[in-house]
This record gives sequence, C-alpha cells and structure tokens, in this order.
Amino acid sequence: MYARIAGTGSYLPDRVLTNRELETMVDTSDQWIRDRTGICERRVAAEGQTTCDLAEQAALRALDAAGLKPADIDLLIVGTTTPDVVFPSTACLLQHRLGLGECGAFDVNAACSGFIYALSVADQFIRTGSAKCVLVVGAETLTRMIDWNDRGTCVLFGDGAGAAVLRADPEPGILSTHIHANGGYGDLLKTDVGVSRGFLAEKGGGVRVSMRGNEVFKVAVNTLGRIVDETLAANQLDKSDLDWLIPHQANLRIIKATAKKLQMSMDQVIVTVDKHGNTSAASVPLALDHAIRSGRVQRGEKLLLEAFGGGFTWGAALIVY
Ligand code: ACO
Repeated sequence: MYARIAGTGSYLPDRVLTNRELETMVDTSDQWIRDRTGICERRVAAEGQTTCDLAEQAALRALDAAGLKPADIDLLIVGTTTPDVVFPSTACLLQHRLGLGECGAFDVNAACSGFIYALSVADQFIRTGSAKCVLVVGAETLTRMIDWNDRGTCVLFGDGAGAAVLRADPEPGILSTHIHANGGYGDLLKTDVGVSRGFLAEKGGGVRVSMRGNEVFKVAVNTLGRIVDETLAANQLDKSDLDWLIPHQANLRIIKATAKKLQMSMDQVIVTVDKHGNTSAASVPLALDHAIRSGRVQRGEKLLLEAFGGGFTWGAALIVY
C-alpha cells in the first residue's frame, strides 16, 4: 500500500505586510529584502486569529478537493511550532472543529520541517495498514513570536496553513520519506523561553525567534544538498527523473542552490516565498497546494519535497502525484 495524495488545500490570512511597510518599522529596504531573500510580501494573522483557525480553512479545502467527509479521516497530524495553547494540541482542537470523530490526533514540532515530519509519520501509518486516510496539516502563526525590532528576522516570516489528505492506494503515491535532526545546531535558530524554562519578565514574557542567519544559511544549503542525494539514491532514481522540486520557502537563494544541485531549471521549481515569506511548517504544503491548483503539477508526475528548520531538523519526501 502507498500513501497517495487525494487532495490538498491551503489558507492565508487577509492581511498583507509588504517590504515597503517594513521599511517604516526597521532599518531595512525593499531592495535588501528582495536581493537577500526573494521575499516581497508576507501574510499576518488578524488579531485573535489562531493557528487552528488557519489550519481549519486549509483542512476543509483539502477534504473538499479529495471529495471526502470528516468521518473518512482516521488519523490527524498537525505540524506546528506555534500551537494555539500548550494543550490541548492544535490537532485535538482541529479534530473537534472538523468533527472528525475519535481518530488519533497529535502535533509534530519540527519547526520548518514540521510538514515533512508529519508526512513521514502519516506514510508509515498507511504503509503498515494502521490508517487508511490521514489528514496532514502544516499551520503557523509565526509572526506572533517575531521581534519586530530585529531586522535580521522580522523581514523573513509569515503566517499560513496548508493541508493534504493521504489515502491508502495500491497505486504509487509517497515513494519514500527521509527525516533527520542534529540538536547540536540548536543555538543557531531558537527561542529562549518556554513553559519549563520559564518566561522572562524582562523580555516582555513573550517568545521570540533568534537566528544566526548567515550560519543557518550555510548549513541549510549543505544539508539540503545531502538529503536530495539520499532521497534519489534510496529510490535508485536520477536527478533527471524528477518533474518538480517543491522546497521549503525560506530564502530564494537557498532554493536556487538546491535546484542547481539537482540540475533543475527554475521552471521546475515551485516558488511562493516571494508572496508568503517563510511560513515554517506551512510553507511546503502551501507551495504544494499552489502548484496543484494552478495546474502546474499533474497526476503521475514525480515531486521532491524538502525542508530545513530549527533544531536543526531536515527532511524530504519523494512523491508520485
Ligand atoms: N535589512 C538590511 N540589512 C540587514 C537586514 C535587513 N532586514 N538584516 C540583516 N542585515 C544586515 C546585517 O546586519 C549585516 O550587516 P553588517 O554587514 O553591517 O554586519 C548584513 O546585512 C549582512 O548580514 P548577513 O546575516 O550576513 O546576511 P545574509 O546574506 O546571510 O542574509 C538572511 C541574511 C536572509 C537571514 C540569510 O542568512 C538567510 O536566509 N538565512 C537562513 C534562514 C533560514 O533558512 N532559516 C531556516 C528556517 S527558519 C525556521 O526553522 C523557523
């Protein structure tokens, strides 16, 4: 049995935050942001709008595209680093909203690799026959933990959600998934506070992302180069067998480096970072849904999905759509 993509969906909050607006907030420029990241604008969740709110819309669209009812889902996994509350998990909140019944529901926190990690878990459940129909969501309100005075991070991130319904099918779907982590790099991209460590009053009590961007950049390029090799080798495939690269949308320069390594033209690469910024766990499913709904990705084509994020975590999935 394979896990086959039956339908995808995505959702973005209405509020668009442009580079020009950021120019009025920190010492930056539209030109710098475009040149260094490829980002032109990003979306920001409205006040009171939560990760679960975004996830719900993406999930409803994915169910609709798959032609399935909530009762058909027998497992729900949500990749997120920005849950509504510590618990119940965002997956439990979402399960209740969607009326999924009493299926298993849990969150996966792997930062920007959250969707690939969740996809990998879903694939194992379907391959072993433990689940037949899995709803996998990547959803984030990352702007809630941004320091809007830190030009090194505030220009990068955005909010959104993406979802995919996977169904057990004898026809090929997910060919393989590969996940890795190296906690030794934890300090390069992190938050300093939390439940167990405590929330620091002098920092306003909030959770804030801090990043040593340049060092993250170098490790990301290297690591993504290795994971695409590993994925192709596991399937005894050549670079030329791939139809599409659907990468994590953190930085256009990182995406271009991976495409170059795969000798793929940018015409075969799905890019949404210009419009969405880095939406962490939502970035790959947002790009996937965009690619499918725009008609670029067709049934039967081979897609390579990859992501890299805080932890560090990284992963890839090779999929016949
Ligand atoms: N506007 C203008 N100047 C800026 C800005 C800004 N927004 N941000 C930084 N600069 C300055 C720096 O202060 C520095 O100035 P200096 O030379 O006077 O010291 C200069 O620009 C160069 O800074 P670098 O950090 O070396 O710039 P770089 O080319 O590396 O680009 C960036 C920075 C865009 C952050 C890049 O390093 C990057 O994309 N890193 C990877 C991000 C990533 O992939 N994260 C992983 C996933 S995120 C997650 O898991 C939650």
